[in-house]
Amino acid sequence: MGNEQIKELIQLAIGQLQAAYTPYSGFKVGAALLTTGGKIYTGCNIENAAYTPTNCAERTAFFKAVSEGERSFEAICVVGGQDGVLTGYAAPCGVCRQVMMEFCNPKQFQIILATSTEQYEIFTLEELLPRGFGPENLRFE
Ligand code: THU
Repeated sequence: MGNEQIKELIQLAIGQLQAAYTPYSGFKVGAALLTTGGKIYTGCNIENAAYTPTNCAERTAFFKAVSEGERSFEAICVVGGQDGVLTGYAAPCGVCRQVMMEFCNPKQFQIILATSTEQYEIFTLEELLPRGFGPENLRFE
């Protein structure tokens, strides 16, 4: 993943902040998910009056991609902040890390946390979810 690709993902994730549906928390999150084939799927958080049905931006992006037949992913950029103002990194919640674990190699999948195209840090899924439980644990041989 080159510099230009990283910046494109950050820009697309930031672009999703305006789509975030957050009448309850006001905390807006945007994501941009890169497949190994080079396609990008975006996502935003979608809240709900009953609270628990709320879907995070990362899962929106994953579920859009998987529902289109994608199964192989390289990286995701996540941005977020109160009222869409990016004052710090918005790291994926535990549930979203687990969804990533289902489809991604934890040693290879890259998670880009950003506040702008100039300010970002990249982590592997393994760094954010050490010793995660995934499909490999259910393979019996
Ligand atoms: N949120 C995300 O979209 N992604 C995360 O990984 C953390 C939390 C959303 C859910 C909710 O709409 C708002 O942020 C506050 O928790």
